[in-house]
Amino acid sequence: MKRILVTGAVGQIGSELTLALRARYGGDAVVATDVRMPVEAELRDGGPFEFVDCMDPHHLTRVMQIHHVDTIYHLAALLSAVGEVRPLQAWQLNVNGLVNVLEAARQYKCALFFPSSVGAFGPDTPRKRTPQVTIQRPTTMYGVTKVVGEMLCEDYHRRFGTDTRGLRFPGLISYQTEPGGGTTDYAVEIFRQALQHAVYTCYLRADTRLPMMYMPDAIRAMIELMEADPSRLIHRNAYNLGAMDFTPAEIGEAIKKRIPAFHIEYAVDPRRQAIADSWPQTLDDSAAREEWHWAPRFGLDAMVDEMLQRMH
Ligand code: SER
Repeated sequence: MKRILVTGAVGQIGSELTLALRARYGGDAVVATDVRMPVEAELRDGGPFEFVDCMDPHHLTRVMQIHHVDTIYHLAALLSAVGEVRPLQAWQLNVNGLVNVLEAARQYKCALFFPSSVGAFGPDTPRKRTPQVTIQRPTTMYGVTKVVGEMLCEDYHRRFGTDTRGLRFPGLISYQTEPGGGTTDYAVEIFRQALQHAVYTCYLRADTRLPMMYMPDAIRAMIELMEADPSRLIHRNAYNLGAMDFTPAEIGEAIKKRIPAFHIEYAVDPRRQAIADSWPQTLDDSAAREEWHWAPRFGLDAMVDEMLQRMH
């Protein structure tokens, strides 16, 4: 039987992933862990919850032993914009935390999911249809930690046979838990502001194209990847993942079609703009499609329809 541990279970991805995993494998099979207590009753009471700081490897392995964990989704991390303000903390959590989790996965023979990002690319990377294997050289500490994380996962797989699997997520859009400290957060904030005030002031330029994904696609991608036949998986660092791409002007237009009074204004934050300008605009995800049959379900219009309906 699968016994899963999720780190960062209270975060943007973790809160939805934990519920999806419990619906699929049973509440008791999924141990939610974080350094914060979940506020939401469904997350707090739907199965075991443990305070775990992945910076404390002994506590992490004790919790894994108690619950007989065989699979880890390691989501505890700092995002890009906050990582630029606190680079040392980003390194410590995103890299040292991952090393602790990798060591635990090696010792207890667990499968491990690692979330990489489009932030693992940089200004030298081809920005359109970014290939699976290409120049990375990111210019943010967040990106540096993601490249190192990808390479560590690949190394543990090669060296110890640890079953590491990862995805390079684009900006993730969800109506349940807000992101925090990311460069792509505007694509979530815009919905709340549109519904409450019919206006949104965007910190990125109108023409900044970035790859994005609606959270249900991201959750399904993680679960499908972790259930995929291991013998078919060639890439053990992280897979490019495509779904949709848009600019602030384009998502603004899509919202305006549904809320005619809505308008978007711009007050560009040079720090986050520089990060966005160093990232790909679209990704070539053919390796994911071939090796484990990845196919997105949500494009821009379907995502905007659902976001507005759910957040209303
Ligand atoms: N969405 C993340 C961020 O903006 C990128 O992985 O930091």
